[in-house]
Amino acid sequence: MLYVEILGNLPEMARDEVKAMLELGGGKIVGQDYLFLKVDAPERAFLFLDRLGLAHEYGELLVEAESVDELLRKAREVDWPIEGTFKVDTETMANCRHDVLDLPRKLGAVIHSQGHRVNLSRPDTLVRVYCGERLYAGIRLRFFDPKDFERRKAHHRPFFRPISLHPRVSRALVNLTKATKELLDPMMGAGGILIEAGLLGLKVYGVDIKPEMVEGAEMNLRHYGVKDYELKLGDATRLEELFPGKEFEAVATDPPYGTAATLAGRRRDELYRAVLRSIHSVLKPGGRLAVAFPTSFDGKGEAEKLGFKTLGRYYQRVHKSLERYFYVFEK
Ligand SMILES: C[S@@+](CC[C@H](N)C(=O)[O-])C[C@H]1O[C@@H](n2cnc3c(N)ncnc32)[C@H](O)[C@@H]1O
Repeated sequence: MLYVEILGNLPEMARDEVKAMLELGGGKIVGQDYLFLKVDAPERAFLFLDRLGLAHEYGELLVEAESVDELLRKAREVDWPIEGTFKVDTETMANCRHDVLDLPRKLGAVIHSQGHRVNLSRPDTLVRVYCGERLYAGIRLRFFDPKDFERRKAHHRPFFRPISLHPRVSRALVNLTKATKELLDPMMGAGGILIEAGLLGLKVYGVDIKPEMVEGAEMNLRHYGVKDYELKLGDATRLEELFPGKEFEAVATDPPYGTAATLAGRRRDELYRAVLRSIHSVLKPGGRLAVAFPTSFDGKGEAEKLGFKTLGRYYQRVHKSLERYFYVFEK
């Protein structure tokens, strides 16, 4: 059994991102305790779990218990797969209902008695305890270092525009499309979504109506080592003309929210409807679109009119005057 700890700011989107990766890797979520997901998956799913954006870590789940005493009793029966030295580290989630203050020391003693050495400053293996409704203990296999994503935030890129999504959110949008080969962003801006898709090894296609964005996105993609890309100057409402005969596996995009400059002179809702129509026409049957719209636009209704099926909708308040939904649609 595995566990995934998801991030708390977009928890439903984070859970569905894990679900999408497990669908690709042949596994499923079998339980949830706040931000702790219990996952049944074969080893080949690691390849897809490694793609996650809205996760803190994943690992091997070894013990699950109703109480501290039960956890310690069960832990004695586990053959702890510790390599080198270890340390026990506790995650007390907001719904924790157990007294875990002394648990690291007690669990550490159990594992130590099996002949493993403790190293509190530089352990080779991290034993993780999660406290929620229940208690869980396991071994961390992969930590998603926030620094890796921070390095790709807008202000670190050679071409900077303050309109970008957080790289973790961009990564999640890509993953929610379940893309395995390619991805199109028809309103790519500085290329934040395409960078995340490109780093996963997908071929990326990008469009923007502004020449400086096409140049800037290319600069950014190259900066992060993404080489397999095709970028075009053009209109996201006319994708059929930009890519004649092409059908895309997946589309993810973050349209402009409403300032006259970024809408390039169009009325906002008309632009959104026309972009949705054009994306629908270039997407493969069964292909997915992940997209953000302000809450004042009925994204679900408009997409369903075109024949899209809504798979997910996730709310986010960005600031006082911007609330949005991230949607996942399937053609
Ligand atoms: C919010 S930004 C995208 C930000 C991007 N996701 C990023 O991370 O950098 C929206 C972009 O849509 C572009 N745009 C506006 N109208 C367009 C249209 N009709 N066709 C293509 N691009 C358009 C704007 O020039 C802008 O760069």
